Amino acid sequence: MISSHQRHFPRLKRIQNLLSHNLLLTLGLGLLACSSSAADDSNSSKSSDIARGAYLMKIGDCVACHTAVGGRELAGGLPFETPFGAVYSTNITSDKETGIGKYNYEDFFDAMHHGVGINGNLYPAMPYTSYSLLTDEDTKAIYAYLMSTKPIKQANRDNDVSFPFNLRFGLKAWNLVAHDAKIFTPSKDKSEHWNRGNYLVNALGHCGECHTPRDSLFAMEQDKHFQGAIIEGLEASNITPSELNRQNWTHGDLKSLFTKGYSRKGTVFGGMYPVVYHSFSYLTDDDMQAVSSYLLDTDEIIEPQALTFNGHKPELPGYTLYKGYCAGCHGQNGEGKPNVAPAMAGNATLDKASVHNVVAVMLKGINSQHYNSTTSFYAMPGYADELHDEQIRDLANYLRLTWSTQPGNLDVKTIHNLKEVILK
Ligand code: HEC
Ligand code: HEC
Ligand code: HEC
Repeated sequence: MISSHQRHFPRLKRIQNLLSHNLLLTLGLGLLACSSSAADDSNSSKSSDIARGAYLMKIGDCVACHTAVGGRELAGGLPFETPFGAVYSTNITSDKETGIGKYNYEDFFDAMHHGVGINGNLYPAMPYTSYSLLTDEDTKAIYAYLMSTKPIKQANRDNDVSFPFNLRFGLKAWNLVAHDAKIFTPSKDKSEHWNRGNYLVNALGHCGECHTPRDSLFAMEQDKHFQGAIIEGLEASNITPSELNRQNWTHGDLKSLFTKGYSRKGTVFGGMYPVVYHSFSYLTDDDMQAVSSYLLDTDEIIEPQALTFNGHKPELPGYTLYKGYCAGCHGQNGEGKPNVAPAMAGNATLDKASVHNVVAVMLKGINSQHYNSTTSFYAMPGYADELHDEQIRDLANYLRLTWSTQPGNLDVKTIHNLKEVILK
């Protein structure tokens, strides 16, 4: 059973892993000191900074984590479950007593870049491992915005973390071995657009927190940047440029995906939906173009290819299953239906080298999602109780053979193994 906030913040599972596997180790190293560098200390702020800060906060998705369900904006209190108890996000309004009104700029810089708050080290539920890339200028703009917010008096909830995991000095040691606080530096041989996209995606968007696999110390493995990782039974897909280009994503497709939540290549679901809904759908047109230039590693126009439909093969067992269970929503020829379900033809979920999400969606389904004022789809039912492993295999093979460039060679063992991870 996962609660709704966990569904929206799949990072929790990873924090759990961190805590269970590595905190004892890091607690042991806890006496090691953590270095923290101070930034330039001007506390003055301009109104242009405040407006820019408000935008940067959207793209950084601060509100989503720092607002409790039904609570007041930025006043904190959203729980992040760990096996040892809950860690709560904090009040980051300008209130001097209960918020961060007492933080001067250096204190704020340290929280954002080094994960050090004025009461000690922060749990990496706060993605400072990505925000550390933020420029000083942008950190200042965010600070200016936060200091301009209406102070809300709401005491932080004590974390319900039990001894010894409540001792924050263990986190200091973790920082020392696993966190490399480096401000973003643009690459000279890339376009300005590309560099801007890189910054938006990696610093503010903290996309790697889900899409980059982790090493045994739970640090993002930078040599496997964006190669994909499992988050709560779904795969935060491989989004490297070579993989996205192989799937024929165009700049327009990515723009559609990030503004609307769907494109001709299918919909976003799982942990990706709130990213679009709360954050990246607010990108300006210029920044959107920058993001797609970076993700596709090109500023050039990409020609959209026809959506793959290789024709039906009625002799295969997957054909009857598709017609019986799926065609009513996804279309007889996989063409999809407006406001019902996306097309299977050309769908990026089918065209990925990894079959993980195809199987996950068939087993668990997707709750009904609302995309904008004119588009919402039905819920996708889950078939874990209805279809046995052979049928899931036949369907997965059929979908891939019929509507993607992937082979249809999955065996039952593969399905069985995936099921263990997906339904865990
Ligand atoms: C994925 C969830 C998440 C996101 C996104 C997030 N935070 Fe946090 N943040 C947390 C949690 C949880 C804590 C408390 C950590 C702890 O107590 O160790 C925290 C703590 C902080 C603190 C320390 C506050 C204090 O009371 O000492 C600051 C400052 C902060 N966040 C600012 C931000 C800003 C600015 C953004 C957006 C750019 C942001 N956070 C985005 C989860 C998040
Ligand atoms: C009641 C309608 C309905 C039925 C029946 C249905 N689906 Fe879906 N399916 C959907 C909807 C709606 C989505 C997209 C949900 C979202 O992301 O908002 C979806 C998404 C998917 C996806 C992910 C692709 C994407 O872009 O989101 C796959 C793969 C899929 N369905 C396969 C199947 C298969 C295989 C069957 C039959 C076993 C099936 N569906 C039956 C409605 C349905
Ligand atoms: C909370 C975890 C999480 C974060 C953060 C996240 N993603 Fe995802 N992403 C996922 C998951 C899970 C999927 C697979 C489901 C799907 O296809 O929507 C996914 C899929 C995608 C896809 C493929 C969509 C498709 O239809 O094939 C793209 C592109 C993508 N993410 C880009 C990004 C970018 C850019 C960011 C940063 C702004 C980001 N993601 C942040 C979890 C995340």
